[in-house]
Amino acid sequence: MADYSPMMKQYFEVKKEHPNSILFFRLGDFYEMFFNDAKTVSQELDLTLTGRDCGQGERAPMCGIPFHSAEGYITKLLAKGYRVTICDQVEDPKSAKGLVKREIVRVITPGTVLEGSMLDEARNNYICSMYYCPAGVGLCFADVSTGELHAGQMEAGGHDFTRELENRLTRYSPREILINPQFTDLTAVGNFIRERLQSSLECLDEEIFALNPAKAAVERQFNGKPLAELGLEDKPLTIMALGALLDYLSRTQITGLERITEVELETDSAYMALDLSTMRNLELIETMRNKERKGSLLWVLDRTKTAMGKRLIRAWLERPLLSPAKITLRLNAVEELVGDQLLLDELVEQLTGIHDLERIMTRVVYGSANGRELRALCAALQKLPGLKRVLERCQSTLLGDLNFQIDSLEDVAQRIDRAIDENPPFTIREGKLIKKGYSPELDEIRSDMSGGQALIASVEARERERTGIPKLKVGFNKVFGYYIEVTNSYKDQVPQDYIRKQTLTGGERYITPELKELENRVLGAHDRSIELEGKLFEEIRRSVAQELNRIQQSAKAVASLDVLASFAVVSIKNDYSRPVVNVSGKLYLKDGRHPVVEALLHESPFVPNDVDLDMNDTRVAVITGPNMAGKSTYMRQIAIIAIMAQIGCFVPAAVAEIGIVDGIYTRVGASDDLSAGQSTFMIEMSEVAEILRNATSQSLIIFDEIGRGTSTFDGMSIARAVLEYVQDPKLLGAKTLFATHYHELTEMESLLSGVRNFNIAVKKRGDDITFLRRIVRGGADDSFGIEVAKLAGVPDKVIRRAKQVLAELESTGGEEVSRRAAFRLQEEPVQLTIEGTDGEVLQKLRTLDVNALTPIQCMNTLFELCNLLKD
Ligand SMILES: Nc1ncnc2c1ncn2[C@@H]1O[C@H](COP(=O)(O)OP(=O)(O)O)[C@@H](O)[C@H]1O
Ligand SMILES: [Mg+2]
Repeated sequence: MADYSPMMKQYFEVKKEHPNSILFFRLGDFYEMFFNDAKTVSQELDLTLTGRDCGQGERAPMCGIPFHSAEGYITKLLAKGYRVTICDQVEDPKSAKGLVKREIVRVITPGTVLEGSMLDEARNNYICSMYYCPAGVGLCFADVSTGELHAGQMEAGGHDFTRELENRLTRYSPREILINPQFTDLTAVGNFIRERLQSSLECLDEEIFALNPAKAAVERQFNGKPLAELGLEDKPLTIMALGALLDYLSRTQITGLERITEVELETDSAYMALDLSTMRNLELIETMRNKERKGSLLWVLDRTKTAMGKRLIRAWLERPLLSPAKITLRLNAVEELVGDQLLLDELVEQLTGIHDLERIMTRVVYGSANGRELRALCAALQKLPGLKRVLERCQSTLLGDLNFQIDSLEDVAQRIDRAIDENPPFTIREGKLIKKGYSPELDEIRSDMSGGQALIASVEARERERTGIPKLKVGFNKVFGYYIEVTNSYKDQVPQDYIRKQTLTGGERYITPELKELENRVLGAHDRSIELEGKLFEEIRRSVAQELNRIQQSAKAVASLDVLASFAVVSIKNDYSRPVVNVSGKLYLKDGRHPVVEALLHESPFVPNDVDLDMNDTRVAVITGPNMAGKSTYMRQIAIIAIMAQIGCFVPAAVAEIGIVDGIYTRVGASDDLSAGQSTFMIEMSEVAEILRNATSQSLIIFDEIGRGTSTFDGMSIARAVLEYVQDPKLLGAKTLFATHYHELTEMESLLSGVRNFNIAVKKRGDDITFLRRIVRGGADDSFGIEVAKLAGVPDKVIRRAKQVLAELESTGGEEVSRRAAFRLQEEPVQLTIEGTDGEVLQKLRTLDVNALTPIQCMNTLFELCNLLKD
């Protein structure tokens, strides 16, 4: 067998360093992929698969992409779960002797992307590292594109360990997760990561987490700061997770990790517990159905002006606070801004146009920022003094603190402004990057260059005169450089000293020694100026990189300010009011509204409702009412208002008192878990089980029609048992909103303490009902299933028949408990009178539990029945 070509040998050398990633191998202006990588990529990205001689009989499969458009392709590959290794030419091919030297410059994985163009500006891109052992888990989350790093540790053994771990992961939703081999023992968490978070999982060798090297790596990263000062001395698991993360990052980024300068320690007790289903059910970040931003709470609250603010408002929403003091600081700031429209307007104006300082700084630090990015940085920094001037006028503590944290950074802005051209080119090697007057040396080279150009320009006029050839021209092309062109009709007037270089159809091109000399001067100066500009640019970039800490701190403060301003803007626009936040355990709202439903309603106004829950007589509200009455909306709005209050925003209510809620737990409708292969009922019950295990007396629970997935009596029994459990202070005693279609449960009010009945009022006139959307005391007396079906447009014939069946049922059975018996009693006579399809329809109706259907399901079923009758 023939040997591989030298280049292919080089390829294999490189490839074996990261065998599980797709290798982008730089050949001239292309990144080429070979063998399986080529096959995979051509398939995934729909590129042509070609081949290349590799020294073997057969050609190597190959596919390629132009290097300058690589980012788009990489983004797509990452989204499909691949990792990409970039191998560049590290010497100039022109000066290379033999094979060009090539090296891996970076491995790009989903969690280690730095390029703004490959990231969503409105969210952080976290990579997580976890070290698990039977004692617990150490974990950390980093966003390398912004330099953020959070770390923490959790003890195992607690009954809710798994759940808490999942909640933590949910709060950051990392794109990529590194684990140690033993972590795979936590099968449930592994499944959660794969199925729910859909993050890419990478299991690293145990020794990468080893404690001593990890300690050293962490100290190195934070400039020799002792572990104790970082707050890590008694957190070995955290250190191990961090050590592995740093190791991984340095191996993938190759260039280093200067961007990460501090670590934020995190304890779970700082934030409200919000699990993934609750975040989805309440549609905090995106809608349940289409996963869209529009229709989510974030969509209503986010009026931020900067990318940093956009990321932070999302983070705040995912992590509502528990400390009334901290919440009050935010509320005070929002109140001040709400109270002074002028101040707020100016603040918003100053925030507008501040570019993404965090991500630009990442590129500055890693030496990949270009002139335009430095100009963007400069423009952003130039806004800071104005911002500070506005903040000077503020009274509230938090706004004052933020002002203190923002460095006006005028020196850095000036440094950039003085040096970098206002309209710099895209790459460093195009010239016109550095302003005139910045470097005398550069100015001299440039004047030399323009002097030469002027002299060349004067050659044309002079030579025309000397030779008497009127159309003689001086031109330039890449192959011959400067030349003199003469048309054929004047060929014989060309002087002796012209040297012919090229013959064209209409004329000849010549050079002269003088022209060549001028050319050398111009081109030489051009090369020198490009080189010097590059050097100066890098100097400036490096000096800006030195200011990382000042800029980062200011960027963070700007982000907070942006979010607070956004809260104020939204609060004014939507008429929100300041909640009282305390530890009373109460949940009191007068005229509460659902912020999102309210924003989406156009025709009718949103009907506000009250709520008054406490730790005593009204812990649990049992809510009944027909489908579509507004039960789910009502319960969600209460939870959402609690969240809004605890992130420090005003709330859609006339009056609000929120006793801090330590966690919100919801079980709402059939969710999107069918793909996981469990039955709806099974999922429902496992979610209920988890809620009962994890909620505390300080939590808020929402049960939206639990027990639907099974037969009436089973469902009712489970619902009742759950209700008994949550209301009992000895067992749980959590504030609970309990919507149910089992009207039997309204009995509980007289049997259990702390339970109160509510219903959502409807007005009935004849067959027609109107939803009043008002919550009132007492249980609903009717479920109005047939009326709702009518409202939904089910044909009259079916409605009439349904009423007939209902009447028969009621006349025989009456009492709810004997529903099933009633059906059975009816069986005989009905079957005697109706046969064929009519009998089939009846049979279907008999087994139908109207209460357990959604309006749409009702409608579909009725259509089906109608069609049967028509046949
Ligand atoms: N307070 C309200 N004011 C105005 N419209 C409301 C209100 N509550 C609910 N709605 C409207 O009624 C629809 C159905 O409400 P929903 O809460 O889903 O009812 P249920 O859970 O009782 O079936 C909502 O989509 C919303 O448009
Ligand atoms: Mg509902």
